[in-house]
Amino acid sequence: MLAGVFPLTDQSVLTDQLGRPLRDLRLSVTDRCNLRCTYCMPKEVFGPDFAFLPKSELLSFEELERLSRLFVASGVNKLRITGGEPLLRRGLPELIGRLVAIEGVQDIAMTTNGLLLPRLAADLKAAGLKRVTVSLDSLDPEVFGRMNGLGVHPDKVLDGIEAALVAGLGVKVNTVVQRGVNDASLGELWHALKDKAVLRFIEFMDVGNHNGWNLDAVVPPREVLAQLGSEFVPVGANYRGEVATRYTDAQGHEAGLITSVSSPFCGDCTRARLSAVGVLYTCLFATGGLDLRSPLREGQSDAQLRELLAQTWSVRRDRYSEERGEATERGKATGLIRQKVEMSHIGG
Ligand code: GTP
Ligand code: 5AD
Ligand code: SF4
Ligand code: SF4
Repeated sequence: MLAGVFPLTDQSVLTDQLGRPLRDLRLSVTDRCNLRCTYCMPKEVFGPDFAFLPKSELLSFEELERLSRLFVASGVNKLRITGGEPLLRRGLPELIGRLVAIEGVQDIAMTTNGLLLPRLAADLKAAGLKRVTVSLDSLDPEVFGRMNGLGVHPDKVLDGIEAALVAGLGVKVNTVVQRGVNDASLGELWHALKDKAVLRFIEFMDVGNHNGWNLDAVVPPREVLAQLGSEFVPVGANYRGEVATRYTDAQGHEAGLITSVSSPFCGDCTRARLSAVGVLYTCLFATGGLDLRSPLREGQSDAQLRELLAQTWSVRRDRYSEERGEATERGKATGLIRQKVEMSHIGG
């Protein structure tokens, strides 16, 4: 298929150089977080002196709404709010309300560490949020405390999950799996939560520049399933481009495996990411992006901004996870390290 703009009833769907439509937009609303997960924001780097973004740099709710409308007019039908930790952004239910009201948005979700859900779940639900994805890596207090960098107890996250369920939000749980760190405690997590949530196990990835990634720490899917201690059958994807490969046990409980390292899924990648300062990234592992905040604040029209989106998406060729092996080898041979955007800027 050729890249370009294809007319559709009331919107135009952009496609990239590999024929992938623009369908999902992930909006980061803050670069701050109240945890310091070793694989995302290690506290040695994101310490007390770390310069986080001042409020004036962040896109306002009006700006986020306007850009979201333009993305929806360009093909997006699914929004996900991310961070850092999105619930640290004050007044978030108001933003949800604005985004839910955009015609053409079929799904809106949020990725959160869950710590502030006891305070906010009811307001988020009332504003129109349907579901949350909560990150939780282990129920073993020592393992989780080490992974989150601050010794926070898993009960704090479980309280958040309960609050979300009580509020009537759908819940998925994301678990990053690292060999020798939390792989032995996956079964405990699965058995405790499978009745309440869809669990998804994510291969440890080389996102950002500080998480000390190495291939030996990645646990392949069959080992993860074996750790869970149930019999599984594969089930098909819910939709084209779903990142998780789904399995169910005999009672229909669902486990998803997100195998970006061992079986990349770039071929179906329809995701764009907007950082909290309004930079558009077309890949989780991008080294740079398009500044949309400047033209927005300089008064460019909707048509001009949409043209920028179209130009960016139509030249997109990103497929980093499929190229990771080559890129890693090239890096070793040349000593040139790829400077990737930080996870805390684009929220996973
Ligand atoms: P659903 O809409 O519930 O299916 O979830 P989702 O597809 O929006 O997935 P989610 O944001 O929960 O993704 C889970 C994790 O998968 C993320 O936190 C990332 O770590 C990883 N992930 C998501 N999208 C991508 C992607 O485009 N590339 C890679 N390499 N990893 C991704
Ligand atoms: N590898 C895999 N997943 C990661 N996440 C953050 N950093 C990594 C990484 N290095 C996931 C977290 C959370 C989401 C924001 O991204 O589990 O669910
Ligand atoms: Fe915070 Fe989520 Fe990153 Fe952990 S993975 S440091 S909770 S943004
Ligand atoms: Fe998409 Fe980049 Fe992830 Fe591939 S590596 S699935 S192109 S975000």
